[in-house]
Amino acid sequence: MCGIMGYIGKRDTVEVLLEGLRRLEYRGYDSAGVAVLVDGKVEVVKTKGKISDLADVLKDRKPEGRVGIAHTRWATHGPPSTKNAHPHADCKGHIAVVHNGIIENYLELREQLHAEGHRFRSETDTETLAHLFEKYYQGDLEKAVRRGLKDVEGSYAVVAVCDGDPGTMVAARQHSPLIVGLGERPGESFVASDPSAILSFTRRAYLIDNGEMVVVTADGVKVKTLAGKPVKKSVFHIEWDPGMAERGGHKHFMIKEIFEQPHALRETIGERIVGREMKLHLAELNLTDAYLRRVKKIVVIACGTASYAGMAGQYAIEKVCGVPVIVDVASELQHRECVFDKNTLGIAISQSGETADTLLAMHMAHRRGAKLLAITNVIGSSVARAADGLLYIHAGPEIGVASTKAYTSQILATLLFCVHLALARGAIKPAAARRLLRGMKKLPGQAEEFLKKEAGHIKRLAKKYKNVMRYLYLGRGAHYCTAMEGALKIKEIAYLDAEGYAAGEMKHGPLALVTDEVAVLSTAVEGPHYRKSIGNLQEIRARGGKVVALANEGDEEIRKYADDVIRVPKADEVLSPVLAGIPMQLYAYYVADLWDREIDQPRNLAKSVTVE
Ligand code: M6R
Repeated sequence: MCGIMGYIGKRDTVEVLLEGLRRLEYRGYDSAGVAVLVDGKVEVVKTKGKISDLADVLKDRKPEGRVGIAHTRWATHGPPSTKNAHPHADCKGHIAVVHNGIIENYLELREQLHAEGHRFRSETDTETLAHLFEKYYQGDLEKAVRRGLKDVEGSYAVVAVCDGDPGTMVAARQHSPLIVGLGERPGESFVASDPSAILSFTRRAYLIDNGEMVVVTADGVKVKTLAGKPVKKSVFHIEWDPGMAERGGHKHFMIKEIFEQPHALRETIGERIVGREMKLHLAELNLTDAYLRRVKKIVVIACGTASYAGMAGQYAIEKVCGVPVIVDVASELQHRECVFDKNTLGIAISQSGETADTLLAMHMAHRRGAKLLAITNVIGSSVARAADGLLYIHAGPEIGVASTKAYTSQILATLLFCVHLALARGAIKPAAARRLLRGMKKLPGQAEEFLKKEAGHIKRLAKKYKNVMRYLYLGRGAHYCTAMEGALKIKEIAYLDAEGYAAGEMKHGPLALVTDEVAVLSTAVEGPHYRKSIGNLQEIRARGGKVVALANEGDEEIRKYADDVIRVPKADEVLSPVLAGIPMQLYAYYVADLWDREIDQPRNLAKSVTVE
């Protein structure tokens, strides 16, 4: 979380920084600031609030200069306030830093620096960096940063500027994302948390790795290790275009992204299913069939929505391939003695590719001998680089904090891998594989039809149930994930109480929650669990709960057991979570909109969770 941006060049520095911050605002939005080198002096302007608040403040106090850094914050140490906003400066205001990550030994460092006479102004861990660099500064910012970082434990993407070195930005990375944009105009370069920040200026970048430092001046960019050894980087071309990260007339990014799902699903399939004979070709997979045949267990490594996509994959892989799959949230997984070995395949699922818990669990799995497959949206992200094999979902930029199109594309990518695995292991007949792949190719069109037919109906349902404050989301089998994801969506953006549950677990406790004030959204699509799902709906209605059922088109019986029905198109059982995820997103969106919530930037959250 937190977005950082830096610029050297001849454009309007503050405007460039603000444009970058606006694109990074999804990473944190409680306070923001800039530091610009003005006539050899560091000028800092910062404020509590969003980028628009910072832009307002800057209207009256705009520092003009050729070098600047900026930050949008998601508070970890110290509440959101102007004082805790970045950039942070050293005692005399000679050095300014912006930082994303956590300095784990900051209390110890702070005490020590305080005893040495440094005076702190904020409660943040980041400020220790400014004072550390001050302590070691002897006329060379690069050396000061290198020496200062030796004392630091934790994660950082940090950028520093200094009035003694007014034409230089020094940045470094350890476990938090950092890229350098190579400007199209002479003497121009950018530093940022991710490609979206620099999209409108350049699409050529260096991806900075852990343990690397960057020195940026008008003469160019030098990448070195933290120990000072030069590193040769190759230029990375950013595929996304700036228009993809605009709202395009929609009220929120979230609704735009929900409606983009047919396109995103098509892109996920791309050229991967070839010809009428449905040949499956996963180009970047990089895991041999011989290895896949040896795999004895799969562990899904993911957080939040991505972990629910993993649950859909778990159901499919166990059913189609007969390989045991464990899904656990990465924040737990990394602290468990989960058994990884050379016959274990870890599947890391992450939209951003920068989620700290996911990355840490991946490193642990690697250390224990497992191979890793990454399913991610962001090309060149840390998750992508930490894995042995790749399956990009190609869903395009997802800006709304609530994950939508990435979720359905992640499920689809996992299903593509499932069929590949089944074929490699001889667990499926070619004809059955073709049937599944044909079903996958139909999903984008089905999603499109569904959105056309049902979005209005779901909006009306949201209005009908607007005053319901407590929800239960139920699902079974392939749709356990749908229940979990539905509940997360409405909690996250509408701030309503919701529990996602395996429908069969209701009688073991949660049924006690059911009253006439509770609404239950439950999947009841055709498949092996249909009858049991109906049984659960009857139990709920017998206790006064209101039931909205997700059922297939043509199922008339369901009307007897539900107050309202949302119709989803029919698909093979293991594919159907892709379609069932969409009504859950729409329902949460429309309810949140009626409550006038800040849908794209819900309170207390950030899109990319780069701290543990
Ligand atoms: O970028 P990732 O997919 O790794 O993010 C994982 C979760 O933080 C994310 O899915 C989160 O749960 C979403 N805000 C849910 O909508």
